[in-house]
Amino acid sequence: MVTGTSLSAVFPMGSRLNERGRLEVGGCDTIELAAEFGTPVYVVAEEDLRARARAFVQAGRHTGHRDFHVVFASKAFPCTAVLALFASEGLWCDAASGGELHLALEAGFPPERIVLHGNAKSEAELRMALRHRVGAIVVDNFDEIERLARLVAEGELSDRSDGQPVLVRVTPDVSGETHEKISTGQANSKFGFGMAQAGEAIARLQAVDGLSLQGVHAHIGSQLLGLEPFRREAAELAKLGDRVGGFSIYDLGGGLGAQYTEDQPTPPPIEEYVGAIVEAAHANGIGPDTRLLIEPGRALCANAGVTLYTVESVKENVSRWVAVDGGMSDNMRPMLYGAPYEAHVADRFGGSTKCVLAGKHCESGDVILREALLADPRPGDVIVTPATGAYGYAMANNYNGVPRAPVVFCRDGDARVVVRRERFEDLTARDVS
Ligand code: LLP
Repeated sequence: MVTGTSLSAVFPMGSRLNERGRLEVGGCDTIELAAEFGTPVYVVAEEDLRARARAFVQAGRHTGHRDFHVVFASKAFPCTAVLALFASEGLWCDAASGGELHLALEAGFPPERIVLHGNAKSEAELRMALRHRVGAIVVDNFDEIERLARLVAEGELSDRSDGQPVLVRVTPDVSGETHEKISTGQANSKFGFGMAQAGEAIARLQAVDGLSLQGVHAHIGSQLLGLEPFRREAAELAKLGDRVGGFSIYDLGGGLGAQYTEDQPTPPPIEEYVGAIVEAAHANGIGPDTRLLIEPGRALCANAGVTLYTVESVKENVSRWVAVDGGMSDNMRPMLYGAPYEAHVADRFGGSTKCVLAGKHCESGDVILREALLADPRPGDVIVTPATGAYGYAMANNYNGVPRAPVVFCRDGDARVVVRRERFEDLTARDVS
């Protein structure tokens, strides 16, 4: 329950209930934002994104490991304004496709600060990465090694002097507690090489002239709330290095969880997570001169954003159904992972009317929150769901011809649209007559 003006950590930093009892994000009144920009809308507190980026960078400095870098997993919020903000904070960028690579470059990330991922990279994607000579290509499988070798032999590499840096992605058979759809570290995963194959992958890559095998990568899963799996992951990666006398780069992937509801367990603080990873790396013989990369996605942006909706209808049968003007087109997470969220009437926090918060889409599964406690919601009310900054915009879609929602950045009471709302014309823009 929210009392007074204090809000839980699921809301963007600096959020509060103002004198009129309305939610303020980045100093902006959310009722006014809804009126000005329409709903649904993703509202992002710019300073929150910056603060988290700085916390990660500071935490790295604090460990004393000089060559430590924070690589934003752009899939979490692939929006130019977000990417440009993180680029300006000195972060690196993880791109998982040619499209994400394009976005990262457009947003201003220097190519040497971009890491290309993917378990099914196309020839075109690899060509693009080679031409820009990205900071690292994370190699996933033997077919990709052959493809890369051929492209390099064909002269696709822009600067052949010291080769294209590559990392080998492995599945260390370490998994944390999370939803099976976002667990990746287990042996039977679609990502990377099994530990037993890693040696062969490394040897094959070392034999390709024009490629420079520099290290290993793993990403054990997402929305992890414990640190132990990360420690075990570091130990497993270190073992691979031991076999070849050490690597110069170890990339431990992302995965630090976010808090979605007030009563959910809190993830470890950023400082603790970074400290634990670096400590585990050092304890396992990964030396102070190596480059250490981590790839947080949601920990950088989930809690920086909220979604505002408008109630369109309220009806009662067995349950009280509160239907809003968005749903599975702007947030797939409840439907895909059963992910929990909380909701409030943006100017009447702390309600007790039990409702089902439903979306506007034509299927029964389009429910944002099964057990919402709202303050007597009525048509026209603005509803806020916090913690939607990660994988909401990213997985948005046009189901039922619903135009995708805009992104509005708020800071010190000023709001600016950084991605406009889609228009109906956008829905037919790709038609070829
Ligand atoms: N690095 C790699 C190689 C990844 O595959 C991922 C996420 C990350 C970093 C960032 O993970 P994070 O720190 O955000 O947990 N759509 C799902 C999440 C899928 C994540 C896939 N990979 C969701 O909404 O929960």
